[in-house]
Amino acid sequence: MKDLIVKNGRIIDPANNFDAVGDILVRDGVVKQVGTTVSAGPGSEIIDARGKVVCPGFVDLHCHLRQPGYEAKETIATGTRAAAKGGFTTICCMPNTNPPLDNLPLVEFVKSLAEKEGAIRVLPIGCITRGRKGEELSDMAEMSGAGVIGFSDDGNYVKNARLMKCAMEYSQPLGLPIIEHCEDPDLAIDGQMNEGIIATRLGLCGIPNAAEEVAVARDILLAQLTGAHLHIAHLSTKGSVELLRWAKQRDIRVTGEVAPHHLTLTEERVLGYNTAAKVNPPLRTKTDIEALIDGLNDGTIDIIATDHAPHSLNDKLCEFGAAASGISGFETMLGSLMNLVATGKITLPLLIAKLTSGPGRLLGGRFGSLTPGATADITIFDPGAEWTVDSGKFISKGKNTPLQGETLKGKVILTVFGGAVVFTDDVKTP
Ligand code: DOR
Repeated sequence: MKDLIVKNGRIIDPANNFDAVGDILVRDGVVKQVGTTVSAGPGSEIIDARGKVVCPGFVDLHCHLRQPGYEAKETIATGTRAAAKGGFTTICCMPNTNPPLDNLPLVEFVKSLAEKEGAIRVLPIGCITRGRKGEELSDMAEMSGAGVIGFSDDGNYVKNARLMKCAMEYSQPLGLPIIEHCEDPDLAIDGQMNEGIIATRLGLCGIPNAAEEVAVARDILLAQLTGAHLHIAHLSTKGSVELLRWAKQRDIRVTGEVAPHHLTLTEERVLGYNTAAKVNPPLRTKTDIEALIDGLNDGTIDIIATDHAPHSLNDKLCEFGAAASGISGFETMLGSLMNLVATGKITLPLLIAKLTSGPGRLLGGRFGSLTPGATADITIFDPGAEWTVDSGKFISKGKNTPLQGETLKGKVILTVFGGAVVFTDDVKTP
């Protein structure tokens, strides 16, 4: 393998508190040196990153690759390529497949498929309960031996508090988090969108903030009781942020993530019965968005995760009530979030931290940094490049985006995984 040198970019590596213009030397798939200048040996491949941002490959703690079982929506081959286009080099896939990933052979199957057909690293998440039914625990210990990075029934809340307590007691010695989809199904029953004036006007059943917050509160208390690590998936409400802050102040082992759409879009997007904006938890209000952004800034929220949820056309081209929930998020993540940087709501290093060192920490510090000796996962993006979202050009099979036709600023131009280029944008920017 030839040496690779990324030259003259603004290198932002939050794990090492590094933010300076410089070069990165990659040798044998590993970061060898990061500095103001590194010298190129003969025959090295050189990438000129002048005017661009260079950072660790993004790490996505929450996505849906749909394989096995829902290959019409996505496959590991298409999903990992779409993720590479979005700047990701490590992605963690949720187990709500068909069959669900609740046992060792299935986890091994996904891992071997990912090795054969994936463009980047795929780390599976195992179910908390068998079949995601919330009745009995899955084969948690066996799956941990196969390398799952946590347990989740994502899409479903584990309603039985005693079972959740058991799951936490089992997960703790395995050293893995419980990743909870916090939504009380009784409070959310028949809900199609956020509860409020817009739901009323559209005649749709609403999902109140309390459906999420009741679930967040219960699980925080169970984490306190058991000492287990609780990671709260896709936080969407102001009250959830306050509960997470309360928990962290008491040193309860809890972390949280927020999705790009919950940071940037409000419930108004549903007007016109727009199924592209149907997602679970639902898009909320400006007040919730402000609280989520505050949560990112003060460290309450550790991670931004896409919740990339690809669906086929038929799943969305139907009446609102029948439409599937979810947004195809890999390919618009950076462009949509860069607007928060442009408007001064968050800084660029903070954004990159929530996409690299934040999730990297949850994964035991194995990924999400440019520390010499680390596998060379590197993302280069142009913070000033404007582009218009055209879902027809998505690599993902999921064309379901509420951002169709919108102009975004900030574009991934090159993704390096293990020292090899796995995505390059064909549009050259000056
Ligand atoms: O909107 C969502 N879609 N939320 C989830 O929790 C699951 C996901 C899916 O699998 O489509």
